[in-house]
Amino acid sequence: SDPGLVERARAAKAALGDQVFVLGHHYQRDEVIEFADVTGDSFKLAQQAAARPDSPYIVFCGVHFMAESADVLTAEHQQVVLPDLAAGCSMADMAAISQVEDAWDDLVDAGVADDVVPVSYMNSTAAIKAFTGRHGGTICTSSNARTALDWAFAQRPAGRGKVLFLPDQHLGRNTAVLELGLSLGDCVLFDPHKPMGGLTREQLQNARMILWRGHCSVHGRFSLDSVNDVRERVPGVQVLVHPECRHEVVSAADHVGSTEKIIQTLAAAPAGSSWAIGTELNLVRRLARENPQLDVTFLDRTVCFCSTMNRIDLPHLVWSLESLAAGRVVNRIVVDPDVAHWARVALDQMLALPG
Ligand code: 13P
Ligand code: SF4
Repeated sequence: SDPGLVERARAAKAALGDQVFVLGHHYQRDEVIEFADVTGDSFKLAQQAAARPDSPYIVFCGVHFMAESADVLTAEHQQVVLPDLAAGCSMADMAAISQVEDAWDDLVDAGVADDVVPVSYMNSTAAIKAFTGRHGGTICTSSNARTALDWAFAQRPAGRGKVLFLPDQHLGRNTAVLELGLSLGDCVLFDPHKPMGGLTREQLQNARMILWRGHCSVHGRFSLDSVNDVRERVPGVQVLVHPECRHEVVSAADHVGSTEKIIQTLAAAPAGSSWAIGTELNLVRRLARENPQLDVTFLDRTVCFCSTMNRIDLPHLVWSLESLAAGRVVNRIVVDPDVAHWARVALDQMLALPG
C-alpha cells in the first residue's frame, strides 16, 4: 500500500492516542487490518465495542450493521465512525423492517405468532434487531447460533416453540439441522416477496424453524462441486467453511465455524496438513500467509472478496482518522434512540447467553 498513506494513518492514530479505538473485522483488507487495535469476528467485535468506554471515538472497519451495533452497545458520549458509508451488507439488505413486520402479521393470522421466538443474525439492520427485542428474541452470530437457538426453543413449552430466523436462511438451517438435530422437514423458507411467505397455514403451523429467504452472496458462491473438486485436487485436504455457506456445502465439509473459529482451527492444525477454506478471500489469503507450516487453499478458484467489506480501504481510513484528529467527526453512525433501546435488549440477550 501507498507508503505516504501508511505514514499519515500512523501519524493520525498517534495524535489521537487513546481517544480512538479501531476495530477491524477479519474480512478487512490487510492495509486496514494493520491499523486495527483489535480484530475479530462479529461477536468478538460487539463485545470489544462494549468494553471500551474510555475511547470517545470508535472507528469501525467493517460493515454498516456492525457499526450500528457498536453504536447501540457503546455509551452515550462515544461516537462510532464507519470510514465509508457505502460499506453495507447485501444479506442485511434482504430483510427490510416493513417486510418483517408484514411477515409477523402473517404469523399472527396463521395463529402461530404466540409460539414464535425471533432469532436474528447480527447481519441485520438495527431496526430488525429492535423488532427482535420487542418480540422477546435474541441476536446471534455465527459463533453462538446454536446456543441462541437452544435458548429460543427453551422460551416456550417443550415441542411447541418455533423460531423465526432472520435473515440468513443458511446459518439458520445449518445450525438447526447439523447442530440441533432438527430435520430439513422441520424448516420452511419464508419468501418475503410472496403472500404469507409462499407458505400455507399448515406449513407454518408444523414448522419448527421459519427461515427468512436471505443469504450471503459471497458464501453462496461455494458449491458442492467446489468441495468435491478440492478433495480430488488435494489429497487428504480438510475442508473448513463458514456457516453462511449452503447446507450441502456445510454438510460435505469437515469443519464449520465463524471467522474467529476458522483462524483458531488453523492455528491448532498439525504442521504439513492441507486445508481448503470456504470464506472471504482477504481472510483466506492472510491465513495462507500467516500459516506457512500449512497448505492453505481457497475452496473455490473464483475470486470471492466481499465487495462491501472492501469499501473500507486505506484512503478512507486515513480520511476518518485525520478528520477526527482535526476535531471533525465524519461518517458517524447514529441509531434512532427508540430503535437503539430495543436493539440493545436483543443484543444484551445475546451477550447474556451462556458460554
Ligand atoms: P463472523 O466474523 O462473525 O464469522 O461473520 C462473518 C460475516 O459475514 C460478517 O459479515
Ligand atoms: Fe454481508 Fe456476506 Fe459481506 Fe458478510 S461476507 S458482510 S454477510 S455480504
